[in-house]
Amino acid sequence: MSSPARPIPRLGRPDGLDNALALRRDQLGFLSEGLARRGDVFEFSLLGLPMVLVNHPDHIRHILLDNSDGYDKNAVLFKIVRPVLRKGLIANADHELWQRQRRMIAPHLTPRAISGLARNMTAETERMLDRWDASDAPVLDITDQIGQLALRIVNRSLFSADVDTTALAFERAFGAANAILGEYFRFPFPPLSVPTRKHRRLRRAIADMDAFVSGFITERAARPPATGEAADLLTMLMHAVDEIDGRGMDIEQLHHEVLNICIGAYETTTNTLSWAFYLLARHPEVERRVHEEVDRVIGDRIPEFADIPRLPYLRMVIDETLRIYSPAYQFMRRALADDEIGGYRIRKGSNILINSYLLHRHPEFWEDPERFDPERFSAENIARRPKHAYIPFGSGHRVCVGKHFALTELVLVLATVAARYRLRLPNDAASIQPEALITLHPAGGVHLCPQRREGLVR
Ligand code: HEM
Repeated sequence: MSSPARPIPRLGRPDGLDNALALRRDQLGFLSEGLARRGDVFEFSLLGLPMVLVNHPDHIRHILLDNSDGYDKNAVLFKIVRPVLRKGLIANADHELWQRQRRMIAPHLTPRAISGLARNMTAETERMLDRWDASDAPVLDITDQIGQLALRIVNRSLFSADVDTTALAFERAFGAANAILGEYFRFPFPPLSVPTRKHRRLRRAIADMDAFVSGFITERAARPPATGEAADLLTMLMHAVDEIDGRGMDIEQLHHEVLNICIGAYETTTNTLSWAFYLLARHPEVERRVHEEVDRVIGDRIPEFADIPRLPYLRMVIDETLRIYSPAYQFMRRALADDEIGGYRIRKGSNILINSYLLHRHPEFWEDPERFDPERFSAENIARRPKHAYIPFGSGHRVCVGKHFALTELVLVLATVAARYRLRLPNDAASIQPEALITLHPAGGVHLCPQRREGLVR
């Protein structure tokens, strides 16, 4: 490779204590100030761990797509979440094992495979709305409501598991792990192996999530589906045989994959829908267009999979929500060899941080980035931007395997709710801030007032 054109601009002291303190105070503020001061690529140390933030679509395309073989997932962030996710797809850095697992799982999450699950998604949403009908609560904790719904949808759709009574324990355990590990990422000391109170709580949370997953795997192993009953993802994975090496997956690997799918699917979709309802409540003109589209296309029916392409405005609302509040807002790669990105030398072993919260606000590609404007996702506007200016699901071979499941769920849940309910801001509502944990979470949750749409602008 030719000699490096430029050294990467640096931020903060080499020991990184100043950076860790600033990151702990305000992670997104610290990184965004770094971009303003140093430009699209800068290097900083986090308590001695060398990090490089990369925030230009061309550079991100290089790492995730064009030279993806030059990078793996043995980077700081994935090492931090690995005690929870273990050998499952999300944080797996063993390329051969990951490839084998992905080959077995991905065919069950294609649009075609998911089309058959749409009815379950809308039926679960209708059940939630029936409960809203029967309740006279003036304000609902929407994040909690959608969280339970999302967990029921993923577990019923993919694992035929009824998780009504156990969902709360899983949600609490996930919430604790997300907060503890999010904090640890910002200030990685003392090591997770030191049994502080917080780290013991993390272990309990992992044990609770494991118990949740083991519950329905054990039940399924004892009671396989009857002949003629459609096989779900869990059954498929239990019997899956890799097309290349002819081997199946052992029970431990199955457990890790099921847990990764529950975690990957549940909080990301919950946060997206919570933010979407919040943004609609704050933008009545956008809400009105959503209602008009849903009323025209769906009418009194329950939305179906085939309706999705007929709801383009609703999809634009989802895309814009995922831009502003990308739930999987940061991920990392480790450079396997020296590389050059945009004229900067990337050293072998560098931890590359990609932060879509910041990328989705890059002033060169997003005008007035804090403004909620679904029109950014009209076909003409999409065509004007580089593809890698928008990566809510990642890109390249590690792109989210659940992307089609997520988009199907997001559109169908939003359409089903919008057909029956309008969600209003409470009178005393303050604006809700994003909280940068391992995922991006609405701080304190989204609380809205449910109002049935009968007699409104139908
Ligand atoms: C709005 C919803 C979702 C968002 C924003 C999202 C985002 C992402 C992102 C950005 C990645 C790639 C991370 C990287 O490159 O390091 C990813 C990977 C993954 N996601 Fe999602 N996700 C969503 C929903 C789902 C759903 C519904 C499922 C399961 C049904 C799922 C399962 C996974 C898995 C297993 C991976 C790892 C894939 C691999 O490395 O092969 N996600 N997701």
